[in-house]
Amino acid sequence: MKYVRLGNSGTIVSQVAIGTWHLPGSGKFHLDGVEMVDEAEFYKIVRKAYDAGVNFFDTANIYHGRVEKNEDHIDHIGNSERILGRSLRGYDRESIVVATKVRGPVSTFPNGEGLSRKHIMWQIRESLSRLDMDYVDLYQIHWSDPNTPHTETMRTLSHLVDLDLVRYTGESNHSAGDIEDFMNISEKYGLHPFVSMQEPYNIIQRGIEKDKLDVAKKHGLGLLAYIPLAQGVLAGKYLEAPESGSRSSYYPELITFSRRNEKIIRDLMDLAKEKGITGSQLAIAWIIKRSEMEKIPMIPLLGVTREKYLDENLAALDVRLSDDDMKRIDQLTSGLKA
Ligand SMILES: NC(=O)c1ccc[n+]([C@@H]2O[C@H](COP(=O)([O-])OP(=O)(O)OC[C@H]3O[C@@H](n4cnc5c(N)ncnc54)[C@H](OP(=O)(O)O)[C@@H]3O)[C@@H](O)[C@H]2O)c1
Repeated sequence: MKYVRLGNSGTIVSQVAIGTWHLPGSGKFHLDGVEMVDEAEFYKIVRKAYDAGVNFFDTANIYHGRVEKNEDHIDHIGNSERILGRSLRGYDRESIVVATKVRGPVSTFPNGEGLSRKHIMWQIRESLSRLDMDYVDLYQIHWSDPNTPHTETMRTLSHLVDLDLVRYTGESNHSAGDIEDFMNISEKYGLHPFVSMQEPYNIIQRGIEKDKLDVAKKHGLGLLAYIPLAQGVLAGKYLEAPESGSRSSYYPELITFSRRNEKIIRDLMDLAKEKGITGSQLAIAWIIKRSEMEKIPMIPLLGVTREKYLDENLAALDVRLSDDDMKRIDQLTSGLKA
């Protein structure tokens, strides 16, 4: 396993992390239609990842492991944290780095969501209790809360570090301007600054290159690259009939997006084949090469719902893409339709 620094911090994390937004499905369903997680399969994935040297795991207080689109499913919130916590029980806590997030709705009452002092102070304790841990390594604000002043949020997060409940803090899904503002506030008041940003980044979703990468470089933030396979699109699987239980069964737009960009995705799959690798491996190796090019740590957050995907995706760490490969990928993807 290769290791990188978590942004400008001294903490070392594996070159890839395991994400827990979607966990393996069990094929059994709750009464409200939400699929139950196959916990035994996830434990196997965690064991295998850990044995391969993966020490970094990402979750969020609102994840429940399968579908999360419908607000009626608020009942399942926290399920991923609980399952991640159970899956890591018995491992040396100091050998792993655990990230979670706060912001999303966990209840329908006022203050049931957001980045206020009240909500954060409540949710950190809930997350720790669900994870069954004394502290979280990286506490991230999941997306922006226009109702809370940035200073209130930043002071609260910094306080959590001082309380030993959190080791580091990071942002996710904020604008470049907002991230700048948070960093300036931390500097002005001597607060603990963010060490990371968590943003969507993959071969076909490169929006952060417009402005956020510059902010990351300026402030020494590591990038946790989420949806590195564009939710499976870059595995090429949605061009054909996907396996049953696949994410496309509840996110059909993944299939329509793939069809709309069929030529581009087929060309990427052909390029992967030419190099003797799979589409997934091409996608992960591309992020690692981009990390070298931009000279900032970029850590793909792998969504692993099957053990065989883990084997395939970890093998991407041995793939080296050339500058010519990168140029070719730029050319192949230039006509992408959103
Ligand atoms: N901060 C945020 O707002 C945010 C948002 C989204 C995600 N995230 C983080 O990023 C993590 C990863 O997101 P993601 O799950 O969308 O990542 P992803 O890696 O782009 O997609 C994972 C999906 O791709 C498919 N897949 C993975 N490897 C495969 C392989 N080798 N062959 C074929 N299919 C493969 C699986 O689909 P099937 O299950 O359908 O088979 C899997 O569920 C999340 O778990 C979460 O931690 C954060």
